[in-house]
Amino acid sequence: MMLRRGFLRGSLLAAGAAACSRSFSFAAAASTSADSRIEVLLDEPLGTISPNIYGHFTEHLGGVIYDGVWVGENSPVANVQGIRKRLIEEMRKIKAPVVRYPGGCFADSYNWRDGIGPADKRPRRTNFWSGAEPKSAPENHKFETNRFGTNEFVRFCRLIGCQPYLAANLRGLPAEEFYRWVEYCNSPAGSTTLAEMRAAAGSPEPFAVRFWGVGNESWGCGGNFTPQEYAVEFRRFATWVPQYGQELSLVASGPSSGELGWTRGFFEELLRKGAGQLDSVYGLSLHHYAWNLSRGQTTDWEKGKGSALEFDSVDWYELLREGQSVEDLIEGHWRVMGEFDGRHRVKLLVDEWGPWYRPGSEATPGNLLEQIPTLRDAVFSAMTLDIFNRHPEKVAMANCAQLINCLNSLYLAHGEKFCVTPVGHVFAMYAAHQGGQSLRTVVSAPAVHYDRDGKPAAFWGLQGSASLHGKELVLTAVNPHVSESRETVVDLRGARISSASAVTLTSSDIHAHNTFNQPAALEPHSRTIDLKGPGLTLTFPPASVTRLSLGLT
Ligand code: AHR
Repeated sequence: MMLRRGFLRGSLLAAGAAACSRSFSFAAAASTSADSRIEVLLDEPLGTISPNIYGHFTEHLGGVIYDGVWVGENSPVANVQGIRKRLIEEMRKIKAPVVRYPGGCFADSYNWRDGIGPADKRPRRTNFWSGAEPKSAPENHKFETNRFGTNEFVRFCRLIGCQPYLAANLRGLPAEEFYRWVEYCNSPAGSTTLAEMRAAAGSPEPFAVRFWGVGNESWGCGGNFTPQEYAVEFRRFATWVPQYGQELSLVASGPSSGELGWTRGFFEELLRKGAGQLDSVYGLSLHHYAWNLSRGQTTDWEKGKGSALEFDSVDWYELLREGQSVEDLIEGHWRVMGEFDGRHRVKLLVDEWGPWYRPGSEATPGNLLEQIPTLRDAVFSAMTLDIFNRHPEKVAMANCAQLINCLNSLYLAHGEKFCVTPVGHVFAMYAAHQGGQSLRTVVSAPAVHYDRDGKPAAFWGLQGSASLHGKELVLTAVNPHVSESRETVVDLRGARISSASAVTLTSSDIHAHNTFNQPAALEPHSRTIDLKGPGLTLTFPPASVTRLSLGLT
């Protein structure tokens, strides 16, 4: 379905925005026709937005590592020591704070020792995902060459200027191997044989890795444990981890979506050995994928999925509904965690999130789990980041699944081809929130009503989040309505606006997306706002994401 709407309010399109097929306007005066309101309460801070909620995830899966991140030193593709140069540049632009690696499910099948030492001596192994790989997939997607391992990953992080977050194998390796991996990464120069091996690979100084996942999805691919069994394993793994003066933040494998029983069972068993056990857990991971677009018809993982590119407006709202539920999940798991940890020392890490569609929209045929993100996924991602921003005291980190060539990717790449997806543009727009003080933001707007196969359904009509950075307020807003704009009064309680500018991502086509051939089909557009009157009234176009930067007095 192609939705084209000539949406024009005023004739304020800047020349630079002429390519944008949906126009938007911002007036700096009180309006009588506004149907929506955003109130930002400057005297109600919610907590500091951890930059790490703008984190990423890379797994040895399909085209993520080989072709996406790693092209090799001798590649015709521009690279820095084998790592795709364009990717490094883009990730610097969005201030990527942290990248999780090497999985995902792959992590619990991986021996980190396979990925160190001279590259030509590294063993070839069957990749965890090989059974799911399509026939047309390249050999190195099915059989892991280990050309990219710990050294290369940490180099990638250093080039971006972000922190590494490593996920250890709890299903297949003993706890000792976890300690040895920590030793390889963090023991001081010259102190251990492993430190010398690290030095031989070019890094005498420790990698200083702080974040460590203790297994991944231990309820499923990570070992098929009960939460109680996993808690026993977690205690074993967390018991003597060498520190080397480096703060270590261990992340326990947490629930899938609404599995409150996992969270409760894990903490019950963990604390059987006393409340002191909480000291060993920095965070509990939560994974939530939006995949069921069946409108309530099935809960079957395969049958419930929809298409990334072919969808109607009901599919659009259904995806957002699936994604919105992460807010209830955060609150629900947080409540359960509070039953065991009254002071809430343990935080939530939503270290896998994003939409997951059925195969068929791969930018590079043969790439497992690759899909082309559209404007729908940009709106979804903005909505999700706004949710994280609104819960800064609960969410310490989040990692979009996955960075490149897989699921909700920010980037697509194949050989010399590269494009930034609409999701990548949202991360660029939202980077301004990082490290700010989240402020309570009250939004009122008419709900979206739609027909869900004969039954009435509703979704919120406008949402967002705000953060304060000294004398600057960053306000982001999502209008999910596929055809209606929202004329909105923005009211700051406790400050006056001295300057204003906006960046908006939207299109008249809800399917808009970027491809290798048309990498700039969907891009954000910026404009300054002329402040004339006492109030600020903005029109948020249909199907849009907007970031406002407001100077305050
Ligand atoms: O992101 C793809 C997979 O989804 C990950 O490997 C796994 O953790 C999750 O089930």
